[in-house]
Amino acid sequence: MDVALKIWRYDPESGDRELRDYELEAPEWACLLDVLDLIKDQQDGTLAYRKSCRMMICGSCGMRMDGRAVLACKERMKPIVDRGHVPVISAMGNLPIVKDLVVDMDPFWGKVRRMKPWLEPGYDEVLEKERIVSQQEMNAIHKEALCIMCGCCVSECNSMESDPEFFGPAALAKGFRFVGDARDQASVERLEDYNDEHGIWDCTRCYFCNERCPKGVDPRDAIAKLGAESVKEGIDRDMGAKHAKWFVKSAETTGWLRETELVPKTQGIVSAVKQTKFAIGLARKGKVPPPVPPHVAADVGEARALHQLVREQGREGAAGIVQGERALARIEHTEAAGARRDAPEVTPGEEPPKA
Ligand code: SF4
Ligand code: SF4
Ligand code: FES
Repeated sequence: MDVALKIWRYDPESGDRELRDYELEAPEWACLLDVLDLIKDQQDGTLAYRKSCRMMICGSCGMRMDGRAVLACKERMKPIVDRGHVPVISAMGNLPIVKDLVVDMDPFWGKVRRMKPWLEPGYDEVLEKERIVSQQEMNAIHKEALCIMCGCCVSECNSMESDPEFFGPAALAKGFRFVGDARDQASVERLEDYNDEHGIWDCTRCYFCNERCPKGVDPRDAIAKLGAESVKEGIDRDMGAKHAKWFVKSAETTGWLRETELVPKTQGIVSAVKQTKFAIGLARKGKVPPPVPPHVAADVGEARALHQLVREQGREGAAGIVQGERALARIEHTEAAGARRDAPEVTPGEEPPKA
C-alpha cells in the first residue's frame, strides 16, 4: 500500500522544528512503527524515535499521531491509508523533546520513583515457604499492574500541562498498585505522601488518560481509588477531599447537592466570608438557592438506602470505585466489528464464559 505521513522533526543543535512529508510503499500489515523503520532504512537515517519489543510490552514507542498519544507498534496503518488520511506524527506532550520523536523521560521516572514503587511488607525474615496472596486480593490491583510505563497518559494530561509538578496519571497508577497490594504495610504513609501538593486532588478528572492508555490501566480510576482510600483513612486535609466528602454527605442527608454550603464546607468559613460579594452577585441572579430550610428531594430515602448499602457491603475506599470497564475485556475498534465494548468480562483466575 502507498503510505503518506508527516513527521515533526526537531534538531536539538539548531533548535529548528520542521514538518516533513514522507511517502513510501509499505506492506498492508504495517503498523506505524514498521513505517518509521522503513523511512529510517530507505529514506532518512537521521530520523530519531524509540522502540524495542514491537508488541506493546516494553512501552518505548509512545508518540503522538494527529495530536493524541499512541504506541507506534499498536497503530495499524491500513485503515488510515484506506481513508485517504495523511497523519501527523510528533513527539509526546508534557515531556521535553530530545530529538524528533524522542522525549526525555527523566521527569517521568522521577515521579514514578517518588511513589516508592516497591513493596514495604513490614517484615524482614524470609520464610521457608512463600507467602500466599489470593487471586481475589491480586484482582484489586490487576489493572494498575498492567502498566508498561509508556507515558501516553502523561502526554495528554491536562493537569500536568498547567502544573508540570503534578505527579501525573502514570505515577499515581503505580502508587495505587502498591497502596492496593494486600502485602504492603505502608499504605497510610503512601497515602499521606500522595495527598501532598501536586498530588491526587490536583487531577481535573478529564479522563483523557483513561482514553489514551493503550493497556487499559485506566489511571484516572486509580487516582479515584487513592482518593477514596485517603478519605477512608481520614486523610482529608486537601480541599479536594473535603469537596468529595461534602458531595457524599449532602446526597445522603437531602438527596441532592446543597451547593450553597459547598464553599464553606470545602474552603472553610474564612474563605467563604471573603467571597460574600461574589455570592451576593450570584444570589441577585437567582443562582443561590436559600440554604434554610434545606431542600430535601422527594425520594431522599433512596439516596440514604444506597449509602447504607455501600456501607454494609464494605465498599468504602477503593472497593467502591466503579470501573468503567475491565482491561482484559477491552476490544479494539476494528473496521470489521466497529467499535465494540461488549466483550464478556473475565476476572483473572475465573473460568472465562463458554463461547
Ligand atoms: S483525568 Fe486527571 S490524571 Fe488523567 S489526564 Fe485528566 S487531569 Fe490528568
Ligand atoms: S497508565 Fe497506561 S498510558 Fe500511562 S504509562 Fe501506564 S500503560 Fe502507559
Ligand atoms: S516497541 Fe515496545 S511498546 Fe512499542
